Amino acid sequence: MNVTATGFTLKYKELMPGGNRVSLYHILRHLSNKNIVLPSHNGGLKVLFTIQAGIIYKEKSLKKSTGNALNDEFYMRRALSLARRGESWVSPNPMVGAVIVRKNRIIGEGYHKRFGDNHAEINAIARSSEPIAGATIYINLEPCAHFGKTPPCIDRLISHKPARVVIGTADPNPLVAGRGIDALTRHGIKTTTGVLAEECRRLNERFFTFIQTGVPFITVKFAQTLDGRIATGTGQSRWISSEKSLKFAHKLRSSHDAVLIGVNTLIRDDPELTVRLIRGKNPLRIIVDSSLRIPLTAHVLKNQDRAGTLIATTARGDSEKRKRLADMGVETMVIDEDGTHRVDLKKLFVALGKRNISSVLVEGGSDVITSMLKENLSDRVVIVVAPRILGKGIEAVGNLGIHNIEKSLRFSHRKIIKKDSDLIIDGRIARTPNRKITS
Ligand SMILES: NC(=O)c1ccc[n+]([C@@H]2O[C@H](COP(=O)([O-])OP(=O)(O)OC[C@H]3O[C@@H](n4cnc5c(N)ncnc54)[C@H](OP(=O)(O)O)[C@@H]3O)[C@@H](O)[C@H]2O)c1
Repeated sequence: MNVTATGFTLKYKELMPGGNRVSLYHILRHLSNKNIVLPSHNGGLKVLFTIQAGIIYKEKSLKKSTGNALNDEFYMRRALSLARRGESWVSPNPMVGAVIVRKNRIIGEGYHKRFGDNHAEINAIARSSEPIAGATIYINLEPCAHFGKTPPCIDRLISHKPARVVIGTADPNPLVAGRGIDALTRHGIKTTTGVLAEECRRLNERFFTFIQTGVPFITVKFAQTLDGRIATGTGQSRWISSEKSLKFAHKLRSSHDAVLIGVNTLIRDDPELTVRLIRGKNPLRIIVDSSLRIPLTAHVLKNQDRAGTLIATTARGDSEKRKRLADMGVETMVIDEDGTHRVDLKKLFVALGKRNISSVLVEGGSDVITSMLKENLSDRVVIVVAPRILGKGIEAVGNLGIHNIEKSLRFSHRKIIKKDSDLIIDGRIARTPNRKITS
């Protein structure tokens, strides 16, 4: 095997007990699996490596553990990073990773790869290099105890007799929460719950929101200049952000079940709304268009076999045009009008939830973003800020009727990422008690 060590230096003395010098070849000979925790000596570092396509990656390192708690977090982090690989393919299922550990050595791991496929723990068991009896299994979400697309994982797990199961978060579905943990306890398997619970919950925030409310998790995303414009006065917006930010936007697109824009953006930009800059699935394309102004030549109406399109309209939408759209394989959905005689977004999201659409990415333009924020419909807001100034132009957010700084919308927590010279602010909007968006 050709092996390249990347981004770090192997410190052999830290890796092998007794501080023996060993060659990379020797280390590799010890790897019975794709992943291994190499033993430390005298309070050195524990280091987890992953080998993929002949390249060794250093996953994480941490100080010598003082007890189970730190080890538990270490392996749970590994389960989370495995789980993340299923992003964009497993929805509306959650992202789940599982790691099987014996005496501080990973003997098996797996993740949920695609909707309808095996769950993470089943894949980890199948890939384990040793029997599971007596080992510890780390999993970021409680194992399922009910029949879905696959049989319940809990029975398989119990039949392998692990000594302990460490779980990040309980199943958010109130109908099944705790059943998996109960079954493990009944069979004498020790369980620990709540390890890195907040990280585990955040990873699957879309799934948690959808399961608990029946309404999709909603992200609003836009690219703006430093002075808050999303387009010039003539409506030109391509491209405010950098190439790397565009890639990030495509990743975001592929991690949602649907992408939504207003009909003005469609008419102005004629976007495809597909995922092209990365490998990922295409979301359902939704256009809000109260009176069916959409041109029949629009890009989103083509290639229905690659990505579906749904036009959300009102009773004002011309029935003849609806028929023509249907002939093209495009569905129209009639939604009640809101107070401004446009598509009632709240009702639209409830209807989408009933169709098992668990997440929606709203990509603008200004009118739609303003409605979303004004009605407090978004869970997450992603703002790409490019170092440009446009002056007069289309504002990202219109009038929200806020006259007091104290009443301004604020993020409950946020992350700031740099992509080329852009800053991406990725925040969550706290749900207010009066938010009535439930099915
Ligand atoms: N930089 C960026 O990230 C970005 C992203 C997207 C767009 N843009 C730019 O934004 C500009 C278009 O923005 P825009 O504000 O003119 O239009 P828009 O938000 O794209 O579309 C607004 C239209 O959507 C329809 N709509 C239906 N229900 C609605 C509801 N509940 N709330 C709001 N709108 C609803 C309305 O038309 P009907 O009444 O006919 O239904 C409304 O006029 C373009 O220049 C585009 O290039 C920039």
